[in-house]
Amino acid sequence: MYQPCEKRYQSMPYNRCGKWGLKLPAVSLGLWHNFGGADIFENGRAMLHRAFDLGITHFDLANNYGPPPGSAEENFGKILKQDLLPYRDELVISTKAGYLMWSGPYGEWGSRKYVLASLDQSLKRMGLDYVDIFYSHRPDPDTPLEETMMALNQAVRSGKALYAGISNYPPDMTREASRILKELGTPCLIHQPKYSMFVRWVEEELLDVLEAEGIGCIPFSPLAQGLLTDRYLGGIPHDSRAAREVFLKPEQVQSASGKVKRLNELAQQRGQSLAQMALAWVLKDKRITSVLIGASSVKQIEDNVASLQKLHFTEQELQAIEDILQ
Ligand SMILES: NC(=O)c1ccc[n+]([C@@H]2O[C@H](COP(=O)([O-])OP(=O)(O)OC[C@H]3O[C@@H](n4cnc5c(N)ncnc54)[C@H](OP(=O)(O)O)[C@@H]3O)[C@@H](O)[C@H]2O)c1
Repeated sequence: MYQPCEKRYQSMPYNRCGKWGLKLPAVSLGLWHNFGGADIFENGRAMLHRAFDLGITHFDLANNYGPPPGSAEENFGKILKQDLLPYRDELVISTKAGYLMWSGPYGEWGSRKYVLASLDQSLKRMGLDYVDIFYSHRPDPDTPLEETMMALNQAVRSGKALYAGISNYPPDMTREASRILKELGTPCLIHQPKYSMFVRWVEEELLDVLEAEGIGCIPFSPLAQGLLTDRYLGGIPHDSRAAREVFLKPEQVQSASGKVKRLNELAQQRGQSLAQMALAWVLKDKRITSVLIGASSVKQIEDNVASLQKLHFTEQELQAIEDILQ
């Protein structure tokens, strides 16, 4: 039987989501890849155990994670039942609705019909009464924002979610979503945008909006899906995400390789792995609540959590990174 490490709360920092009371670990774990029905169940289970032992209390899912879609939630539900349910109140579990989940006009985007049905399905797959955070996964250009936000509000009021969040919303829609949610009495807890050394759109305006609204920020793909690690320094390993050629393409690996080599050298000079430096770099902005990593092995999770041992950058190091990223 799984027994969590007694020292699990000794070294992980926990940061407030914006101005709200909920705290998240500086490093959170997402189950987009490597936890689906097509993956090795025991590897996913071992990763969740190790993550919790290291103080990672937040696990991020979505209705469509797998493959096949839904299977990451099913597997997570099995592992919860086997090992983690006694610790339910120590966990922050999130899920989302927005991307294609079932056929017909009610299987994706942001209608109340889809969003609330999807949450019910997610809860069933995970065997949960509630999730801690329920997100609108992406803005819907054809549904009034009020409708999607009313659905999030309903999810919280019905007790099926404790907090509401949004993901992939641009700055202006974030401001408006925040206004509507406040009016409804279910303020927006957190925003989940893509952010890394390679993808920096949030720096232009979004982070200012989040700070002004008191909303937390949990960037996804902080390692640019593995590009900002040593994974591809010697080519494309057969068991890597880029080898599957779906979400990360070999061309992306190829075109980033010059910058990655130079960043790796800089990380070595700092006494860190490139993954550790990339995570520390995202966490240097105090508006960032947590970095949302993915992993395919226990070792990667350990490597990533160890980034917290060296978060500080000198001005020269930051400039050297900018010079490489130019
Ligand atoms: N809201 C959204 O629209 C959205 C979109 C995407 C993701 N997300 C969330 O964000 C989470 C993280 O996304 P992501 O998986 O793209 O994040 P990521 O941390 O940028 O990439 C994770 C991948 O990088 C590699 N990796 C991780 N640590 C490593 C290390 N220390 N050394 C070498 N390689 C390492 C692994 O690749 P290999 O598998 O090749 O080993 C791993 O699968 C997802 O699980 C999901 O919860 C949300």
